[in-house]
Amino acid sequence: MTSALQNFRRPPGPTEPVTLGIDPETLTTLQELQQEYGDMVSLTKPNGRVAYFINDAAEVRRILTRRHSKYRKGPGFERVKMLLGNGLIVSDGEVWRRARRMIQPAFSRQNVHRLMQVMVECCDRRAVQWAGLAANSEQCNITAETSDFALELILISIFGSDYETRIVAEGDNPFDFLSRDSTRDLSVVMKVRHLRDLLLSIIEARRTGSDSDEFDFLSMYLQATDKGGQPFSNAELLDELMTLIVAGFETSANTLNWVWYLIAKHPDVETKLIAEAEEYLPSVSAMNADSLSAMQYTQQVLEEALRLYPPVWLFTRRSHEDDELDDFDVAPETDIYLSPFILHRTEHYWPDPEQFDPDRFAVTDKPKKDRPFFPFSLGPRRCVGEYFSFLEMKVHLGLLLPRFHMQLVDDSQPALELGINLRAAKDIFMKPTER
Ligand code: HEM
Repeated sequence: MTSALQNFRRPPGPTEPVTLGIDPETLTTLQELQQEYGDMVSLTKPNGRVAYFINDAAEVRRILTRRHSKYRKGPGFERVKMLLGNGLIVSDGEVWRRARRMIQPAFSRQNVHRLMQVMVECCDRRAVQWAGLAANSEQCNITAETSDFALELILISIFGSDYETRIVAEGDNPFDFLSRDSTRDLSVVMKVRHLRDLLLSIIEARRTGSDSDEFDFLSMYLQATDKGGQPFSNAELLDELMTLIVAGFETSANTLNWVWYLIAKHPDVETKLIAEAEEYLPSVSAMNADSLSAMQYTQQVLEEALRLYPPVWLFTRRSHEDDELDDFDVAPETDIYLSPFILHRTEHYWPDPEQFDPDRFAVTDKPKKDRPFFPFSLGPRRCVGEYFSFLEMKVHLGLLLPRFHMQLVDDSQPALELGINLRAAKDIFMKPTER
């Protein structure tokens, strides 16, 4: 053995091989490892690959921020790649850097504010639907409703009026299966192929069409150029659009689903949210970026929901250079597992962690690093849609909650489905009444 190998410092961990995936068993395994070995654990997978599970807030921060260039996306992303191609979420290195630079400006606050009216219209459609259910004393499937809301919003934000003319005109919305089908079997592959054909025809029509003053993500993506002045090719655009659709709706939809559930369980929180909405949004015409950013309590509720139910509950990375974390060494080709779900519920960072308490996020002087919170990741690969999603969720709650009271049909705690995204295992039903 060379002295370098002898001196290699590996975190403690089990000697038997351990299987890790992106599934409920993995959550249990990681929690048990943390219990037994602490916040830095090393293990060997059945295929012989070494993996570290990191639950130390400072080291997680370091991997995602200052040391991010030493890591690439890790196991599990192959599956995502099958669906999304090599778009922003899965790409790495220079391909990712170029695409991120081209895409980032589309998500400036100023641009996102221009989509606020679309957010309002998507809420209006939900309000019509919910008023009908309330009038007939029917139940509302809030999981399907939040999913439809977020899917429709992202599609109109991307395609503008092409959503009506090219997508809705197809009959059944060809994107619907994304919100309904959790399987990734062959039928989904066929549907994705059909979708890509549809997207390509929209892209080609936009490229050859006369200049329109349409404002949507597609027009911004079409205008974006890299440092050499090159725009995205059609193949690149297809991957980026698929990425934006999937990344942009499921996460926000799941968060809103949990928020409605948590509000129904906490009437005191509901009262405060309504009071805030009535103060800052007395009418839709009073809504603007300033009134929404003043809704501090709504922000706290959203953050606390994201602490308990971070949609991306497990991140994976693979090192491609040597690194050092805490007192340990990381060799190239080591798999890294980080879990916002576990870290957000670790008692020494978050006292009484299972308790839903939006006041944890009240503005204080407490340094942020003392309470790890990264539902949108951190560092250069941090979610590009974070501001968009907070705005859409604030508009959604600010307009719909003062109008509708939602009562849970089944009071029990929903089971979790832990796939690539964390969702409620079963749809949540509520009984709406108009206030
Ligand atoms: C509650 C809502 C959301 C949550 C919790 C969330 C979370 C995340 C997380 C954790 C990542 C990083 C994943 C990783 O590095 O492994 C990410 C990346 C990304 N998100 Fe979001 N997201 C949300 C909403 C959105 C929305 C609304 C959009 C688009 C409109 C969006 C677009 C993206 C994109 C394009 C990336 C890839 C960024 C990159 O790698 O450069 N997300 N998101």
